[in-house]
Amino acid sequence: MSLNKPAPWSPASWRGRPALQLPDYPDPAALARVEEELAGRPPLVFAGEARRLKRQLAEVAAGRSFLLQGGDCAESFKEFSADNVRDTFRVLLQMAVVLTFAASKPVVKVGRIAGQFAKPRSADIETRGEVSLPSYRGDSINGMEFDIAARTPDPQRLVRAYDQAASALNLLRAFASGGFADLHNVHQWTLESIKDSPAAERYAATAERISEALAFMRACGVTPDAAPSLQGVDFYTSHEALHLPFEQALTRRDSATGGWYATSAHMVWIGERTRQLDGAHVEFARGVANPVGLKCGPAMAPDELLRLIDALNPANEPGRLVLIARMGADRVGERLPALARAVTREGKAVVWSSDPMHGNTMKAGNGYKTRDFDRILKELEGFMGALRAEGAYPGGVHFEMTGRDVTECVGGAHAVTEADLSSRYHTHCDPRLNASQALDMAFRIAEALKAARKGAEAAA
Ligand code: TRP
Ligand code: MN
Repeated sequence: MSLNKPAPWSPASWRGRPALQLPDYPDPAALARVEEELAGRPPLVFAGEARRLKRQLAEVAAGRSFLLQGGDCAESFKEFSADNVRDTFRVLLQMAVVLTFAASKPVVKVGRIAGQFAKPRSADIETRGEVSLPSYRGDSINGMEFDIAARTPDPQRLVRAYDQAASALNLLRAFASGGFADLHNVHQWTLESIKDSPAAERYAATAERISEALAFMRACGVTPDAAPSLQGVDFYTSHEALHLPFEQALTRRDSATGGWYATSAHMVWIGERTRQLDGAHVEFARGVANPVGLKCGPAMAPDELLRLIDALNPANEPGRLVLIARMGADRVGERLPALARAVTREGKAVVWSSDPMHGNTMKAGNGYKTRDFDRILKELEGFMGALRAEGAYPGGVHFEMTGRDVTECVGGAHAVTEADLSSRYHTHCDPRLNASQALDMAFRIAEALKAARKGAEAAA
């Protein structure tokens, strides 16, 4: 660890560092005007909410809660609707119920939603035939259509992203606390489109047991008034803090504590491609007091991770840092143990979460980018096994998923085959689990959590 005092931080201090993955705007003055406009807009979330999430994540770091994070790879302008937000939310609720029931632990619910617009790309330019254009970088930056008008970065899109995030959040807040998420509605969250799937049948059985338990508790005097926590959920938003001009414009000083907060979401994360210790993204994230995620890929070395932890969480505050391992099913067993060992040895308080999606992307025979349910599950199992063997707590999961009935990932109990991929392949970026695959996945994780709980009880 360096003994030097860290350099002073400001919401703009990232500008002095190398910044990867930022778009090249043809008119920087237009971008500056948009930044100024956004800086005058209300915050999307409040510092107190981010602090509450941090306290709940501290419980995860201590092994007493579990983190569920999920949503689109990339949100889009075109597919934004109340139904889509509601459907993603209800699948997350179903997954949370299944996990809470199995683990007998609170589940912290965080959406990849209301701000997940900007995408890192492996190449700046995409070439088709004779034509080369800027790569698509997400709807807050440019359009997906392959023509020069769409692909030219347009700063006005940032304002539209802000507006969409605000209306998505408004809806999510209403769903979370307005009655929809009341545990007494546990039967009503199943989507019509997956009603006949094996996962939905299994869910109905769990929901039945929960309803019975609620009725029993009510008879015992535990009425909804006596237990208001049954009536809604705390739901949080998150996205990759990739577009730093946007993030800076929404970074505000909290009047209660004097600290700086990213108010674009409760939690933000740093991606695998932009986690350079001296880079702009780490510089930005180190100064905001929100919970911060850090993607950890197979190339990360233990000492590199420890330096990043010191930069991002120098006070070793539990709940501040979520390490999101995205190794690939075949590499997690080989790459994760050394990282976990180093973190445990140095006494670093972190949440370990698994992103089993990004290390398992492949090309199907027919050219579609896809992911296989069994490989995703294999990475999750490898993640849990590796952490437990190191005495660390596998505290959470991070999925790309949707409430829509898409065919983007193959496998699952209601199996999607490679031939099915073309029928409903809608993603703006990476393949997502559909509603029944996501629910199915929750049951598989629940089995593992339940086995761990039984093991712990037997040992106690
Ligand atoms: N508020 C509690 C929780 O979030 C119980 C609860 C209410 C709940 N509605 C829920 C749990 C929906 C999961 C899903 O854990
Ligand atoms: Mn993705």
